[in-house]
Amino acid sequence: MIDQGASKINKSHYIDVRSDTVTKPTGAMREAMVAAEVGDDVYGDDPTVNTLQKRVALLLGKDAGLFVPSGTQSNLVALLSHCQRGDELLVGDCYHIHRYEAGGVSVLGGVMMEAIATDHRGCMKAAQIVKAIKPDDLHCPISRLLCLENTVSGHVLDVADITTLAIAGKGCGLSVHLDGARLMNAAIKLGVPACDIVKAVDSVSLCLSKGLGAPAGSVLVGSNDFITRARRMRKLVGGGMRQVGILAAAGLYALDNHIERLNQDHEHAIRLAEQLNKINQVTIAVDQVDTNMVFMTVPDGSGVALCEYLAARGILLGEGNNVIRLVTHLDIGVDEVDQLAAEIANFFA
Ligand SMILES: Cc1ncc(COP(=O)(O)O)c(C=O)c1O
Repeated sequence: MIDQGASKINKSHYIDVRSDTVTKPTGAMREAMVAAEVGDDVYGDDPTVNTLQKRVALLLGKDAGLFVPSGTQSNLVALLSHCQRGDELLVGDCYHIHRYEAGGVSVLGGVMMEAIATDHRGCMKAAQIVKAIKPDDLHCPISRLLCLENTVSGHVLDVADITTLAIAGKGCGLSVHLDGARLMNAAIKLGVPACDIVKAVDSVSLCLSKGLGAPAGSVLVGSNDFITRARRMRKLVGGGMRQVGILAAAGLYALDNHIERLNQDHEHAIRLAEQLNKINQVTIAVDQVDTNMVFMTVPDGSGVALCEYLAARGILLGEGNNVIRLVTHLDIGVDEVDQLAAEIANFFA
């Protein structure tokens, strides 16, 4: 039996740090959604979607954008638009595209994935990319695309990191896609415009439903030709939506109101890491907390019991064995951070 404890937490108000995808649309965001002008987006007729696509393309310094339902679909559509059957892409071994997208590009596109080792920040080296490219030999797949990611598990790769890798890939004839699900966290942390980070890459996927707090949606950006191909691929994978301006309006609201505030999520993550680090049984590399993710190492065998203890007190953590991820976001303030740290300390006490 789980001890229900004498928690002060109101059970209807969960402290949910499993991911930044769990945020609920704010009242003002919902009002923007209700007021959205809509049309049939498969015909290109939804004015709010069209505005959002242009807005994100401008933000990221590319020609055009395409609104898609999810980050996974945005990456898939990008990869299918860059590659043909029998091609291969190079991707960091810990990146979302390689690990957590159900192998979609291989299943649906016949594209092989070659995983490149990443360091503790999720970065690769230019020499690894050059070395991994296959020779022009009939025994080999054709190396076509390099996939980058930023942030990587909360770590920020800076402008030089991304530019160096992209130039290495392009120098060998590859196109370059960047999974920027949390690119705005990187831009805010670095204090540079997002377009500077992605200048050297061909396509970028930006999620609106992570730290930016929209209920759904990502925007894929790239050249006009690339987005024309991507529009066809989006239809192929069933991602053509109709009066979807109500979701695009949430995205526009998020771009107007939720970018600068990402800084608060980063401060909250540091505050949380510092408090947890004072608990003897918990290990955290506080200096590795770049943005909104904290990775806490707990003694072997205690992770599941900790998660159950906290769940009984209205706190949700991502399940893990002894390394547990905690993600700060729009619905986590200082009070939630302090309460969370106190309950974890109670567990170990
Ligand atoms: C880095 C990264 N890329 C892509 C995705 C996929 O986004 P979605 O869950 O919207 O499919 C995620 C989801 O968490 C992610 O963390």
